[in-house]
Amino acid sequence: MSDHQALPGSIRKLWPNETSAFRDHLLRLDQSSRRMRFAHSVSDAFIEDYAARMSDMGSVVYGYIEGNEIRAVAELRKLGDRWGDEAEAAFSVEHAFQDHGLGSVMMGRIIRSARNRGINRLYMSCLAENSKMQAIARKHEADLKFEYGEVIGEILPQTPNYFSLLAEAVEDRVGYMMAVFDLQKRLVNAA
Ligand SMILES: CC(C)(COP(=O)(O)OP(=O)(O)OC[C@H]1O[C@@H](n2cnc3c(N)ncnc32)[C@H](O)[C@@H]1OP(=O)(O)O)[C@@H](O)C(=O)NCCC(=O)NCCS
Repeated sequence: MSDHQALPGSIRKLWPNETSAFRDHLLRLDQSSRRMRFAHSVSDAFIEDYAARMSDMGSVVYGYIEGNEIRAVAELRKLGDRWGDEAEAAFSVEHAFQDHGLGSVMMGRIIRSARNRGINRLYMSCLAENSKMQAIARKHEADLKFEYGEVIGEILPQTPNYFSLLAEAVEDRVGYMMAVFDLQKRLVNAA
């Protein structure tokens, strides 16, 4: 069993002004990971356009940050203009950071965020050959109904409760404090 806690970085929600770091992360994905992430091969131009719209879409985006770089991302996207019953989830972990448990942990965050927004069905574009994603889905089988077909995984989050709402709120505050602390450290080092 892989353990993300052995990694030195931390997982927190990304801010709207972090689109460039988000883009750089997606551009660093190797060809196979890129294809698995978007369910088809995509160009650099496609990724640049996609990343630029990160904050427009009002999505929830978690990142694993190590140093100044985003090395893994989990996205929860609305399917329409507002949060409804259904949403889409996507995951990307850079090759050197795969198999350390990041995808599994981030899947847990996405399921909780979905639950807290009243979403009861989550779709993932997952190629049938994506055995790592299927391994992660199996680890969350209490919350997941995964159809191993061509593209769709379906997640059935339970209803939100006080603890799941509180856990996300507390974690957001800690993430904010850590980001401020990190910024201060960089400013001091640059002085
Ligand atoms: C799929 C992805 C998100 C998984 O992230 P990750 O951080 O590597 O995943 P984890 O380390 O949490 O878990 C991977 C699991 O797959 C298992 N695994 C690794 N290679 C495997 C293989 N070839 N077949 C089956 N299982 C495999 C690992 O053993 C691990 O399970 P364990 O923790 O029980 O040992 C990552 O590989 C990735 O970004 N891939 C490219 C993009 C993509 O496929 N996105 C998903 C589509 S939305």
